[in-house]
Amino acid sequence: MNKAAIGVYDSGFGGLSVWRELRRALPNESLIYLGDGKNCPYGGRSREQITQFATEAVERLVREGVKMVVVGCNTATTAAIDHLRSSWPDLPIVGLEPAVKPACLTTKSRRIAVLATEHSLQSDMFLHTAERYASDVEVVKVPGSGFVEIVEQDLEHTPEARATVRQVVEPLRGTGVDRVVLGCTHYPFLRDAIAEVLEGEGIEIIDSGEAVARRVEWLLERYDIKAPSSATPEFKFITFADEEYRLRLMRKAQHIEENIAK
Ligand code: DGL
Repeated sequence: MNKAAIGVYDSGFGGLSVWRELRRALPNESLIYLGDGKNCPYGGRSREQITQFATEAVERLVREGVKMVVVGCNTATTAAIDHLRSSWPDLPIVGLEPAVKPACLTTKSRRIAVLATEHSLQSDMFLHTAERYASDVEVVKVPGSGFVEIVEQDLEHTPEARATVRQVVEPLRGTGVDRVVLGCTHYPFLRDAIAEVLEGEGIEIIDSGEAVARRVEWLLERYDIKAPSSATPEFKFITFADEEYRLRLMRKAQHIEENIAK
């Protein structure tokens, strides 16, 4: 048993979609959320830059005394997970990968689409997962251009957001794709808008949040570091941006919390 917090890190707001699943699955765990904010979006940056940001973030979380880190960002995972694990060999570090595997195992049309950042779509990790599970499945890669910016500005429910989503997602209609993987943790916040555009196509939208929460739970048990069921969780928010950004992260998490409680 261990009451220390789990650190959750993302380039910005996206990791809060992972936070939501962690809160649902592990209600007694304390969480420290680090949303970089200063260097977001990561999607168009080089592997070296992202690795540097991710290293600084994990250093910070380690200073906070976390017992585990969840890299709640597909882009940072693809760029930096090996480096982070070799830098902190004793710290359990969980990464995020697009849910290509479940999509490949369930597609009937043998054609799936992965929506993610440019960086993730070009990465070795993505190619390996796709090769391993998708040898007879066609994978259509779709960069979610503009999606991260919408979520970062809290504009998910505006007509502009719907127009941006439509422009990116509409071309998937009528292509025979029957699974769309949300391969960026910002995108679940646009799930309704994406579903609206794809309505009537028989397409299932899949993200990695629940699977990651299950993996975290499994690791907590394996390392015997789960918080006791009597523990009252505490939450903390950190950013490399300014105080206003930190408060916005906090408010979004509170909003998520209220929706879980409903
Ligand atoms: N949320 C991130 C991801 O899962 C990255 C978004 C960005 O900073 O480009 O890929």
